[in-house]
Amino acid sequence: MSLETRELHPGLAAEAGFLDLSQPLDPDTIAAIQTAIDAYPVLVFRSQSLTDAQLRDFAARFGPLEIGRSAARPGRRRLAIPQIGDISNLDVDNKVRALDDRRRLDGLGNRLWHTDASYMPVPVVLGMLHAVTLPPASPFGNGETEFADMRAAYDALPAETKAAIDPLIAEHDVFWSRAQIGFTDFPQPERDQYPPSPQRLVRRHPVTGQKSLYLSAHASHIKGWPIADGRLLLVDLNAHATQTRFIYSHTWRLGDLVIWDNRWTMHRGRPHDEHKPRDLRRATTLDTGSTLNEAA
Ligand code: OGA
Ligand code: MN
Repeated sequence: MSLETRELHPGLAAEAGFLDLSQPLDPDTIAAIQTAIDAYPVLVFRSQSLTDAQLRDFAARFGPLEIGRSAARPGRRRLAIPQIGDISNLDVDNKVRALDDRRRLDGLGNRLWHTDASYMPVPVVLGMLHAVTLPPASPFGNGETEFADMRAAYDALPAETKAAIDPLIAEHDVFWSRAQIGFTDFPQPERDQYPPSPQRLVRRHPVTGQKSLYLSAHASHIKGWPIADGRLLLVDLNAHATQTRFIYSHTWRLGDLVIWDNRWTMHRGRPHDEHKPRDLRRATTLDTGSTLNEAA
């Protein structure tokens, strides 16, 4: 079968025709979804109603699933399934977190352009985010999620820039992305659990050979360069890669399931009314090898 799609942003985002993702799907349907993701690294399904277990089971058809940083912490958690990431502003009792709540401040790192888990030695592939509760409009934003096309951004660079950055390795560190928004309050054991990881700055699609910028708020500097020079290069590349022409902004509706490929996109959450609940659930598939093994 082939999946019906309607383009939302050329080469970046599409809306898929309706499929009930809560039901077990046959291998042909899963393959058709994967083909659509390869063409459109942001794929939107509307009108889903998935329990956490159904979201986990659907996502697991695409690869082994990540257990994220917050689920790996000891202590009580709001969601029962460790493979489901809690992308919400709610505490264990489903109450909106206070403005100075540590977990909320940590989660605000998602407002910076990033690709998920690039601080891990082997990063992730697909993110799948399901909208369960949405906040009302606010003066600063409506909790949209924006996606930027890192293949188009790479293609648009001058040939000399491409040649110069192709071999570079960046160091990615989750505590650097948090430090950028002034949040440094992490206990040493948590820091020790997530040391920085090296990643190629330019990735290559395993099948098509298409290249892509692998940027993220976690990217701190360039290996072998003075910290300041590397940081400034990353600032320039981020400004280039997040121009309006490379961006699709997703306005959430209840029941949306948005799938994105972290290898070819960056994303960020937008501000929203912090006094109202926003509850999204995320499943994430793991990659199989280090980006360092991808020939530039
Ligand atoms: C994520 C993320 C942004 C948002 O779930 O990985 O960055 O809009 N979310 O919640
Ligand atoms: Mn994210």
